[in-house]
Amino acid sequence: MRKHIVAGNWKMHKNNQETVKLLEEIIAKKATNDTEIVVAPTFVNLLTAVEKTNSKGITVAAQNMHQAEGGAFTGEVAADMLTSIGVNTVILGHSERRAYFHETDALLALKVDTALKHEMRIIFCFGEELKDRQIDNHFNLVEYQLRDALFHLEKSDWSKIVLAYEPVWAIGTGETASPAQAQEMHKFIRTLIDKVYGYEVAENVSILYGGSVKPDNAKEIFSNPDVDGGLIGGAALNADDFLAIVNAF
Ligand code: 13P
Repeated sequence: MRKHIVAGNWKMHKNNQETVKLLEEIIAKKATNDTEIVVAPTFVNLLTAVEKTNSKGITVAAQNMHQAEGGAFTGEVAADMLTSIGVNTVILGHSERRAYFHETDALLALKVDTALKHEMRIIFCFGEELKDRQIDNHFNLVEYQLRDALFHLEKSDWSKIVLAYEPVWAIGTGETASPAQAQEMHKFIRTLIDKVYGYEVAENVSILYGGSVKPDNAKEIFSNPDVDGGLIGGAALNADDFLAIVNAF
């Protein structure tokens, strides 16, 4: 049975003290349920987050990593650096990385391979822009994103993949895909994975929804059979809101 996951992508928010404070609040208020909680602070606060959440049932993830093993890549962070401090999950392909840092699916395929080589779990983000949905090209686009970045993988690699469908037009806009739109796309994705990798992989891969998930809409979104959790931006920066979303399952 696939896992329910709620992941907070903190983006470029929270300094070190604020990171500690937010984690302490999350730890103090979190209930025990079956939903995995993931937090993704910025690189400089990852070690603090790992130390703070040690054996507290919270997974710490990085928001990005470089595809190379190491070398002269000023400002970048390698997989080995992450795993050496206990970070074994990485978000790849976020739409902000694609839009502002020109990450393509071909580049993401390399990052995916490097992460897997280091036995990391990947939360792979993808999703269409509004212009794609307006011309009814959203299913095609999502299919190409998955094909170009992930469909070279072996069946066995998929135990390390979590998918995160984030329609770009719903990120930070207050505009959410309707629960029906989310389910329709998640079902399409699972059917596609089934076609390429078979039933078992398709049934076991968790597909998260991201884009303006808030405490007041999480329950409805998560009630869809193919939505296995959320990737949360703004609402993950407040412990009460984030935990209300975690508890929406
Ligand atoms: P918001 O929840 O702020 O829309 O952000 C979603 C997101 O980009 C998570 O990665």
